[in-house]
Amino acid sequence: MTTEAVRSYLREHHDRFVAELATWLKIASVSTSAAQAEEVRRAGVWAHEKLVAIGFPVVETIATAGHPLVFAEWLAHPGQPTLLIYGHYDVQPAEPLEAWLSLPFAPAIRDGNIHARGAVDDKGQVMLVLAALEAWSRSIGGLPINVKVILEGEEEMGGESIEAWVRSGPARLRADAALICDTHMVGEKQPSLITGLRGILYTEIAMHGPARDLHSGSYGGVAPNPIHALCVLINRLKGEDGVIRIPELTAALQPPPRAEKKFWDADPLHLEEALCREMGVDSLVGEEAYPPLERIGARPTLEVHGIRGGFTAKGAKTVIPAEALAKVSLRLPAGLKPAEVFVWFEKAVRRHTPAGHRVEVIQLSGGEGLVVSPENPFIKAASAAIESTFGVAPVFMREGGSIPVAALFDQILQLPVVLMGFGLPDDGPHGPNEKFSLAQFARGMATVAEFLGRLRQ
Ligand code: BES
Ligand code: MN
Ligand code: MN
Repeated sequence: MTTEAVRSYLREHHDRFVAELATWLKIASVSTSAAQAEEVRRAGVWAHEKLVAIGFPVVETIATAGHPLVFAEWLAHPGQPTLLIYGHYDVQPAEPLEAWLSLPFAPAIRDGNIHARGAVDDKGQVMLVLAALEAWSRSIGGLPINVKVILEGEEEMGGESIEAWVRSGPARLRADAALICDTHMVGEKQPSLITGLRGILYTEIAMHGPARDLHSGSYGGVAPNPIHALCVLINRLKGEDGVIRIPELTAALQPPPRAEKKFWDADPLHLEEALCREMGVDSLVGEEAYPPLERIGARPTLEVHGIRGGFTAKGAKTVIPAEALAKVSLRLPAGLKPAEVFVWFEKAVRRHTPAGHRVEVIQLSGGEGLVVSPENPFIKAASAAIESTFGVAPVFMREGGSIPVAALFDQILQLPVVLMGFGLPDDGPHGPNEKFSLAQFARGMATVAEFLGRLRQ
């Protein structure tokens, strides 16, 4: 349980926590951009210094083949549980810049929200955890339980370095449960706890046609066109009906637990309307045979993120391009291994590539999904903490996004993973004008502080 001292500390220092978050958000830690490696490093240094200031006796920045990991531990209570808290300090690219109302790395507060790249994903949610830890440390003189913190700077590019580190089995990661605040809830009045995330396989397909760009008059009608071939291929991989045509993948899908299936079919959260509103569309697309919650949480999907090729500048140019490129990812229900799916995917790509073209496909990144049992005592403590600060019990549901390290915590470290996020459905992570509600920021701090207190035995 949180003491009154902790709660009032959070209230008194709220504005400073917002100011500190804003300082962190100004650092453009875009991990996928090699040019911004120094900014990523600075964002890690900021977190390192903050952990020292909170009072963690051990804080280390661990060099990796990629961006550094920031690790901290405070083990003051033999006999008490140890919680491993994970977050990421890297962010997605901010482009297209012209779509932002205020600049992505100049945090701005409007209508009770802080707007910046990384506001909700994930700096704002890491900051609320740091605030909760600081409140315990400064008002009580220590944390109620043992805590380890691990922050990575590569989540948005697939998290290769943390994967290698976790697989190497460091004693420093020993814990009883993991906490990740990097997801969202159904709404301010309807909190949720996440019981499943999908995995991801991210690929790049290069389609090659003629040896060089051709005049489309002289050759149109006889020449292979790699842009067209890519479109045909993509449509063969997943048609208008939303069904993925990779036979080995279809065969590997497991039927969901009956209770979850009943919940999805009933759609008590009226997700269909909510999703249409959020996306600004008239109707949903995808596999009609499955309700939206199931389609997002437990069905695979194949999505095209971008296609490049040919002529797209102003004016007209009649050319048949020599090559075209597509970025394609698959979301995978828990249990499927990205490396295995990639073999099936590559086979399907080759089979479905129209004649006259040469295709190359590579895997850029991958991570497995996971499911967590709502019966776990740590999840129960999280649920009770949410109910006490939100006044409403959370619903348990799966999410469609991926956090590659979460599956590693589950499989390799064998930890129950508490996915307790405070984002809202309209926060727009990865898109322009990403924001985080300051009310959720405050409720998040209080909830995490309460959760830590409830874990004390
Ligand atoms: N915080 C998200 C994951 C997430 C998004 C969980 C939405 C639940 C709902 C995370 O930062 C993320 O964006 N992950 C990537 C992983 C990829 C780059 C390997 C994703 O899901 O696309
Ligand atoms: Mn995230
Ligand atoms: Mn993200």
